[in-house]
Amino acid sequence: MKNISEIRSDFPILSEKVYGQPLVYFDNGATTQKPEIVINKLNEIYRKFNSNIHRGVHALSDMASEEYEAAREKVRSFINADKKEEVVFTPGSTGSINTIAFSFGEKFIHKDDEIIISTLEHHANIVPWQMLCERKGSKLKIIPVNDNGEILLDEYYKLLNRKTKIVAVTQVSNALGVKVPVKEIVEAAHSANIPVLIDGAQGIQHAGTDVKKEDFDFYVFSGHKIYGPAGIGVLYGKEKWLSEIPPYQGGGDMVENVTFEKTTYGSLPFKFEAGTTNFPSAIALGTAIDYVTLTGREYITELENDLLSYATNRLSAIEGLKIYGNSPDKISTISFLLDGIHMYDTGMVLDKLGIAVRTGTHCAQPVMERMGINGTVRVSMCFYNTREEVDALGEGIEKVIRMFE
Ligand code: ALA
Repeated sequence: MKNISEIRSDFPILSEKVYGQPLVYFDNGATTQKPEIVINKLNEIYRKFNSNIHRGVHALSDMASEEYEAAREKVRSFINADKKEEVVFTPGSTGSINTIAFSFGEKFIHKDDEIIISTLEHHANIVPWQMLCERKGSKLKIIPVNDNGEILLDEYYKLLNRKTKIVAVTQVSNALGVKVPVKEIVEAAHSANIPVLIDGAQGIQHAGTDVKKEDFDFYVFSGHKIYGPAGIGVLYGKEKWLSEIPPYQGGGDMVENVTFEKTTYGSLPFKFEAGTTNFPSAIALGTAIDYVTLTGREYITELENDLLSYATNRLSAIEGLKIYGNSPDKISTISFLLDGIHMYDTGMVLDKLGIAVRTGTHCAQPVMERMGINGTVRVSMCFYNTREEVDALGEGIEKVIRMFE
């Protein structure tokens, strides 16, 4: 296994300075940094074989198409899907959820039907369902959480009924880092023949997934949160669902035959990949997955768990600091507020010390409202962060407190 300095040297940006201070990047929940091999892969594509996929008879197009389909196979294997046909490339988690909210909604959701989501959801797993409800006259039902941001399973079980057509929940709260009991959620939904969509945007890079073992009907994630480029994401769907629901968008590459009288759609997964997809980013996402696999998925989790407990101890010891989302089952994210100090002031002072954190509602306003706050300071760590960086954060927070005393 690589040691931490070897890991850090894989990510060129980590040796940058901000305001003359070494960069401490704790905003991995928003986007992760990229290892050199991913950056090099994008460079190689544009220098050596950039060409549109699935369209040309020429050598470059063949190379790009082969690499694109190889990336799809890497994703399939990484999430343990049965078939490549079940792996669709989209612009990101948001694009994937919108696809299912539209296409599944068109086919299966009618007036007065119900869709279950949770209080923890990112706006990307709320708004597309609300838009569907407006179109169809269906209703959104919300699983509540306790004061620690943990799902109240008994309340969830009470929400399931004959009108429920789909359950869509996150794997991990992006705002608090708390994990969701997806196993129990899927089991209960499936016992009533209700499909489940899991938003893996904050889960895949920390906890991984096995869509077959976990029996997810749909699973989505974004490339840029797992060390790949922005603008590419994945929609996994069981073949039985993807083949039954209509396409989301029409255009090139998703068709079999087009006449003015009638168009027939292409086979899976192309039916959901209209137009020129972001093929360079898809190929480089394949490289990012290679990187994670070579580094060791379980090793990554081990490093992150160590950081989480070290940082939780360090931050909890600071007087006047309150952590939101105190749960034993978390990824390496800590959301907090300082007594009497505005989150933006905290974030801005930390920034001047070279420490990047996210402040605000984290695109998850309802959970902030549930916690009775306007937002938090979010420290989202990943495996390339260090205990020394956590110490720098602790000292930075103590400096903020001294400044505003
Ligand atoms: N969804 C991203 C976050 O949680 C942007 O920060």
